[in-house]
Amino acid sequence: MRKIAKAAGLAAGLLLLAAGAALAHGDVTPHPVDTTGLAPLAKTWADSNPYRGDAKAIAIGSNGYYHNCAACHGLNAEAGGMAPDLLLIAKDCVTMTSAKDKASCFKDSDDYFKGVVLDGRKNSEGRVVMPSYNSVFTQEALWAIKAYLDKRTADEASSN
Ligand code: HEC
Repeated sequence: MRKIAKAAGLAAGLLLLAAGAALAHGDVTPHPVDTTGLAPLAKTWADSNPYRGDAKAIAIGSNGYYHNCAACHGLNAEAGGMAPDLLLIAKDCVTMTSAKDKASCFKDSDDYFKGVVLDGRKNSEGRVVMPSYNSVFTQEALWAIKAYLDKRTADEASSN
């Protein structure tokens, strides 16, 4: 039953996408992110987030998240059930005490995040349920959003 409700919500979301209509908090059409002020990155992709913990990147990422992801993944990355909770991706990493384990955990989460965001997601019937950001996001934009999510994840962990 829950699955059906979820699918219906998603179908409604995608209908809005097709109509180009904006939702109350950001729409679901990929938008470029203005990363002015961040240290520019090389053309080749870094294998872990060079901006983690950078206040400017977190602020830019928060804005990029709001305009691109919040409609499905929830305002402030608080998932409403329509799409997965993005604060779970690096949840285990933030509380690790060994710096080496922590770095490798974040690196894995970065790699996973990059793959999903660049490719988007299709459901088992081949229908697009999350758009691909490959043609609109620079490397700077993608890592800024991940830096924002990691900050939110750490904040949640410390408030529990
Ligand atoms: C149209 C709705 C929609 C938008 C917009 C969207 N997503 Fe998603 N996202 C989904 C859905 C649905 C899934 C789960 C797909 C699946 O089950 O395979 C998902 C999955 C993911 C996952 C994998 C989560 C996991 O637990 O495995 C990541 C990471 C992700 N999205 C990041 C983002 C980011 C970052 C943005 C914004 C740049 C974004 N998404 C925008 C709907 C969306």
